[in-house]
Amino acid sequence: MPPTSIETPRVLLRKPERDDAQRIFTTYAQDPDVVRFLPWKPHATPAVSARFVGRCLALWNDGSASTWVLIMRDSGALMGMLEARIRMHAVEVGYVLGQPFWGRGLMRESLQAFVDWASNQPSLFRIWATCDVENVRSARLLERVGLQHEGILRRYLVHPNISTEPRDCHSYSKVQGTF
Ligand SMILES: CC(C)(COP(=O)(O)OP(=O)(O)OC[C@H]1O[C@@H](n2cnc3c(N)ncnc32)[C@H](O)[C@@H]1OP(=O)(O)O)[C@@H](O)C(=O)NCCC(=O)NCCS
Repeated sequence: MPPTSIETPRVLLRKPERDDAQRIFTTYAQDPDVVRFLPWKPHATPAVSARFVGRCLALWNDGSASTWVLIMRDSGALMGMLEARIRMHAVEVGYVLGQPFWGRGLMRESLQAFVDWASNQPSLFRIWATCDVENVRSARLLERVGLQHEGILRRYLVHPNISTEPRDCHSYSKVQGTF
């Protein structure tokens, strides 16, 4: 199981708490620009964010996914979230950051800490992520934390804020050893 918290110089990644829901809603979940390339629609009310936090905790409990809220250590601000799903020998990661925190290397620092943790797990041979072919910030971020572009998964995911049809996505990975 991944750790329930990870610290970087500027960011605390910790397991969500029910009280985080309002800040998740305000900071990013209701923002159409933030969720543009994500597989869900903006949250309409804080109650939707509260249900989302409940699901995150249930996924922690049954071991199917780990989510961390990203807290800025100096101010205590909740900035975004990172999610990891382990399937056999592979872990897939996803992430989101509120707009006021973009462009400051904060997700790079957070994601790098996760990639470093995962790279040190002997049972994990593949760390991977996908992003919409138009999500240039995310693609660049994945390269910056050491993942390599391995191709395009055609018609892979529906990003409902752009289209109801599945869209092409970049696939990036970091793998251990050679085969
Ligand atoms: C993806 C996300 C976490 C990136 O965080 P960020 O703080 O915005 O990232 P940055 O501003 O540091 O940009 C990342 C890189 O993309 C580059 N970049 C930013 N805008 C760009 C643009 N329009 N064209 C090309 N490159 C761009 C930056 O220069 C940076 O590269 P660098 O480190 O080499 O300088 C953030 O934008 C986000 O949460 N977006 C909404 C949710 C989302 O799309 N999540 C990912 C789903 S796959």
